[in-house]
Amino acid sequence: MKHDTTIYIAEVVDLTHEAQGVARIDNKTVFIDGALPGERVSFRYQRRKRNFDEGELVEILEASPDRVQPHCEYFGMCGGCSFQHIKAERQIQYKEKQLLDSLKHVGGITIPTLLPPLDSAEHWGYRTKARLGAKWVKKKDRVLVGFREKRKPFIADMTHCEILPTDVSSLLPAFATLIASLSNPDKVPQIEVAATSAINAYVIRHMFDLTEEDINKLLAFAKEHGVAIYSQRSGPDSICLLYPESVTLQYDIAPYDVSFEFQPSDFTQVNQTINARMVAQALELLELDSNDKVLELFSGLGNFSLPIAKQVAQITAFEGDKGLVERALQNAQRNGIENIQFYTADLFDETDLIKKQLPEEYNKLFLDPPRSGAMQILPKVVHKKIERIVYVSCNPATLARDAKILVEALGFKLQKAGVMDMFPQTSHVESIALFTR
Ligand SMILES: C[S@@+](CC[C@H](N)C(=O)[O-])C[C@H]1O[C@@H](n2cnc3c(N)ncnc32)[C@H](O)[C@@H]1O
Repeated sequence: MKHDTTIYIAEVVDLTHEAQGVARIDNKTVFIDGALPGERVSFRYQRRKRNFDEGELVEILEASPDRVQPHCEYFGMCGGCSFQHIKAERQIQYKEKQLLDSLKHVGGITIPTLLPPLDSAEHWGYRTKARLGAKWVKKKDRVLVGFREKRKPFIADMTHCEILPTDVSSLLPAFATLIASLSNPDKVPQIEVAATSAINAYVIRHMFDLTEEDINKLLAFAKEHGVAIYSQRSGPDSICLLYPESVTLQYDIAPYDVSFEFQPSDFTQVNQTINARMVAQALELLELDSNDKVLELFSGLGNFSLPIAKQVAQITAFEGDKGLVERALQNAQRNGIENIQFYTADLFDETDLIKKQLPEEYNKLFLDPPRSGAMQILPKVVHKKIERIVYVSCNPATLARDAKILVEALGFKLQKAGVMDMFPQTSHVESIALFTR
């Protein structure tokens, strides 16, 4: 398209899940980055496509009462947080609307009871788990460490990050200097972070064999900053602790008196305050009692399984990652929990194997699948004796699709659903839904 510098005016009517304002101009949708519903804005066309256009915000002519000044100087450039210009308490309401819209449009379902959003006062510094990109940038003659730029493959040039814990954020420049000092600074693409209350762990991915001097630099860095450093030469099995000699990464869910040990690259929920509240809500919705036999899918390292086990007769849990299943078993043992069985299975593929391992009876189902949802497995495990299904989801679109299967094909009714503020400032939506007969 020839570059059109004309400035247009738009009334913004909606917000996409990526926090773009939505306007209608001449019966065509325009997405305007940074604009909020209820605002009158001026914009320039950036891209015109067949079904929609994209516009660049020029000026906010009438601001929404939901608008706040973004807290972080990298807002707009960094792809990590796109909701920062929205008041914290309104962010979660936009996410709630997204859940309602998805259920309605994808699943054709309305929610009889909307659960109050699970919120916490910690809107910053909450993110205990992150994969940071690293890149040696020749033009800048230095290494960048951070999240990716918004809709671009580049690493954002940032010296701190407000959603990471302060002690993680403040080390970003030091990590950039450390990587720049290694023998192949252009071959370190990623640092994985796992922050805990006792120690923060960092897994340095390196695409070359570390020299003795490299290892000494990593050890000196770890000692100086009091952190655990792991090296990762290839796949997850190559992760190796460099410093200290031994370390235990752990989190607790105090109300259930359970603790979980994990490895730094294991899946763990990023926001521990919301995690504890989410587990409590899931257990409450399951209405557990000591006769219950529960089936759990996508159980990870037992985050929900162990608290559930404490309240029921039996729980059988399936998870695809062998390492997570090993840790889940160890976690159950360490916590003195015996009424639990964990199986490793690819829940998108190995239906026959899963069927063989299914217990004879189970009356409740809990699942927390990845973004792609659980479409393949639901019809294989849902039978007539299941009274309740609680579904935790990190993607409202697949939750809505799976809800439609449960409702239309498997005889369930969506009773309650709601959102949880697991990822404040970002566009991620975490939700929970209860299905009953
Ligand atoms: C959102 S996490 C939930 C984990 C756990 N419930 C927790 O709270 O920590 C989704 C889990 O699904 C597992 N997963 C992903 N794809 C899978 C598959 N095809 N089969 C079985 N598990 C899978 C992941 O390894 C991960 O542990």
